[in-house]
Amino acid sequence: MTSQFSFELQATDGKARKGVIKTPRGEIRTPAFMPVGTAATVKAMMPESVRATGADILLGNTYHLMLRPTAERIDRLGGLHKFMNWDRPILTDSGGFQVMSLAELRKLTEEGVAFKSHIDGSKHMLTPERSMEIQRLLGSDIVMCFDECPALPADRKRINESMQLSMRWAKRSREAFGDRPGHALFGIQQGGLEQDMRAESAEALKAIGFEGYAVGGLAVGEGQEAMFGVLDYAPDMLPMDRPRYLMGVGKPDDIVGAVARGIDMMDCVLPSRSGRTGQVFTRHGVVNIKNARHADDPRPLDEHCTCPACSNYSRAYLHHVFRANEMISGMLLTWHNLHYFQEIMQGMRDAIEGGTFEAWQVAFHEGRAQGDI
Ligand code: GUN
Ligand code: ZN
Repeated sequence: MTSQFSFELQATDGKARKGVIKTPRGEIRTPAFMPVGTAATVKAMMPESVRATGADILLGNTYHLMLRPTAERIDRLGGLHKFMNWDRPILTDSGGFQVMSLAELRKLTEEGVAFKSHIDGSKHMLTPERSMEIQRLLGSDIVMCFDECPALPADRKRINESMQLSMRWAKRSREAFGDRPGHALFGIQQGGLEQDMRAESAEALKAIGFEGYAVGGLAVGEGQEAMFGVLDYAPDMLPMDRPRYLMGVGKPDDIVGAVARGIDMMDCVLPSRSGRTGQVFTRHGVVNIKNARHADDPRPLDEHCTCPACSNYSRAYLHHVFRANEMISGMLLTWHNLHYFQEIMQGMRDAIEGGTFEAWQVAFHEGRAQGDI
């Protein structure tokens, strides 16, 4: 096992890329989907179950963990990996984005963001330096720069000011991160839907130099067409030889479209959160298990799926435990959703390797057009 962080591009098919990120805690096969473990748990899943779905890496959140149980406590207890019993790579988001969407009474200055906790109203301050310190205390393998981004639509002036601030914070993040062999710091491109600002942001980040580059500021209300519009050019502005991470995306067809445009990593709460609200993702589209039509249905959710929910239970059972508010409902549906997302990733990696990604995409969309059967 390597003691350094590295990225190897193994195959390309059109703009789609297959590769591997090597870290001291294990390899990450790309394109990679990262399940979200916000509060040191992927909700309703044991870490070994998350691994069984095919995940190589999890995402954790600076914002939530700094408030509860605090980064200092996690550090005293041996770091986030030991604390949550996940010994593979962890990427942590930096907190800026979550502060802007979750915290109360935010005050944004050049220094950082002052805010009140959404949990108990206590006062906190996040700066690039403090975010780097928290992510180091957590023991994160892939650390994200501290950044800021407006919800869309926003005017050019607001997007430009926000992007410029995030680029100054990216420089401060790089300096505060220091030299940490085996750990990586990723820059985050901003610039909304403005191509010139995306280009300027990419140049600023490349001048600083990062182990990987994220496309940020998307999936914030602009819709798929506008997001794909940006993804038609934004990944090309980032270095070929470094991983490219699209933050907070998305639905299965968003993920496939992003990979087709040159994205290597993604994360989203969708498969885990939907699992708890009865929304199931299958090769034929979305199934809502709450629907009365499942009440007498002896068939599995998806007859081709090898997950525990599909191997061992009927739609009727899954419908019943959802309606009865039983905990196993969230457990089984989350497992299925995460399994399905990882199956999409494996399918794309194989297709890119085999040079059949175009045909794979056609089959993917045909399956979904067929509808639930
Ligand atoms: N999650 C989704 N989008 C973003 C973003 O632009 N920045 C950060 N830090 N996290 C995100
Ligand atoms: Zn399944």
